[in-house]
Amino acid sequence: MAVESYVLKVAEVIEETNDAKSVAFEVPDDLQERFAYTPGQFLTVAVPSDQTGLAARCYSLSSSPHSGRHQITVKRTADGYASNWICDNLKAGDTMRLLPPSGIFTPKDINADLLLWGGGSGITPVISIARTALEKGSGKVVLFYANRDETSVIFAAELRELVAEHPDRFTVVHWLESVQGLPTQEGLKQFATYFADYTSFCCGPAPFMKAVATALKELEIPRDRRHQEKFVSLGGNPFGDVEEVLAAQKILAEADDGEEAGEAAFAGPVSIEVELDGNHYAFDDWDGKQVLLEFLESKGVDAPFSCREGNCSSCACIVLDGDISMKHNDVLDAEDLADGIRLTCQALPLTETLKISYNG
Ligand SMILES: Cc1cc2nc3c(=O)[nH]c(=O)nc-3n(C[C@H](O)[C@H](O)[C@H](O)COP(=O)(O)OP(=O)(O)OC[C@H]3O[C@@H](n4cnc5c(N)ncnc54)[C@H](O)[C@@H]3O)c2cc1C
Ligand code: FES
Repeated sequence: MAVESYVLKVAEVIEETNDAKSVAFEVPDDLQERFAYTPGQFLTVAVPSDQTGLAARCYSLSSSPHSGRHQITVKRTADGYASNWICDNLKAGDTMRLLPPSGIFTPKDINADLLLWGGGSGITPVISIARTALEKGSGKVVLFYANRDETSVIFAAELRELVAEHPDRFTVVHWLESVQGLPTQEGLKQFATYFADYTSFCCGPAPFMKAVATALKELEIPRDRRHQEKFVSLGGNPFGDVEEVLAAQKILAEADDGEEAGEAAFAGPVSIEVELDGNHYAFDDWDGKQVLLEFLESKGVDAPFSCREGNCSSCACIVLDGDISMKHNDVLDAEDLADGIRLTCQALPLTETLKISYNG
């Protein structure tokens, strides 16, 4: 199977702060549909590397779909390879290899009242959601935005403009660690009390996300109104020769058969129904040795994926009937699992019949 990656030209590089740059890509007409996205989704880019050939990294789209732009915003990670390479080297006219937009950190109802939480570079998916909701939706939008200090606030001017354009619908609360110290879980909880019927989207450093998640749980905000995006680096290479990657995975799956995966998986033909992008598929010959993503690809289904390693959630589905186990999971928490969410790139069957949906 061919690798579904595309080479795009860099249209513009914008210095946002001392340690963050936005990169806008030119998407030609024939790729517009493939690169259509919803606010909160991300692109996966291939950063050239002398050591490994390339380093694959995910970056959220900070632009909004209706703007026609495809812009990511990259903040330097101390001693990080890819983020510093992008900030040091990329310029207009360069080209990059990318995977199309992906991800499930995106509002189902753009008219809902939204409570957005951004910490540092975590603002990128969140501002895309805010821009889209303000332009295309009708609800109220509240943003709690935490930063180290004033100079590290990405999109400060755009946020001021958005507030001026939508004074009755958009509220931004800035929190500066240099002035107010770190936000406490109790303080975040008190803040959230005022917006208990809003839908939350949170992205930022791990301690910030944990504090927000705990505060929202303590307020008993239901699971379907609490969303978070974790920024982690991919360890593997979703761009490589996919034939080779799939072959290697198959050998691994076979080797695993007598061990963890083999014991858990249902041995025998499995019947599966799949809902994806308004399409309905039914197959009755999944042998339970390939992971579900590979099985669907072998049937010609255009199933979403990025890392193929269980650490990005691009491939997530909801199990509506039956059950599946996962070989590896770095991204779903206990509540996601209880809600039936599974990573198809790691999924093996536990039951003879299954029904899954990608539609959330
Ligand atoms: C869904 C998602 C969305 C994200 N969105 C954003 C975003 O909007 N903005 C943002 O800033 N970040 C975002 N991230 C985080 C981003 O993907 C990276 O994790 C982050 O930029 C840090 O990457 P880094 O390579 O600089 O640092 P690290 O991952 O810390 O880099 C160090 C790693 O690089 C390896 N390395 C060192 N030198 C080399 C070399 N020469 N060749 C190859 N490898 C080498 C090291 O072995 C080490 O593993 C997102 C992550 C996810 C999963
Ligand atoms: S493709 Fe990344 S978790 Fe499955």
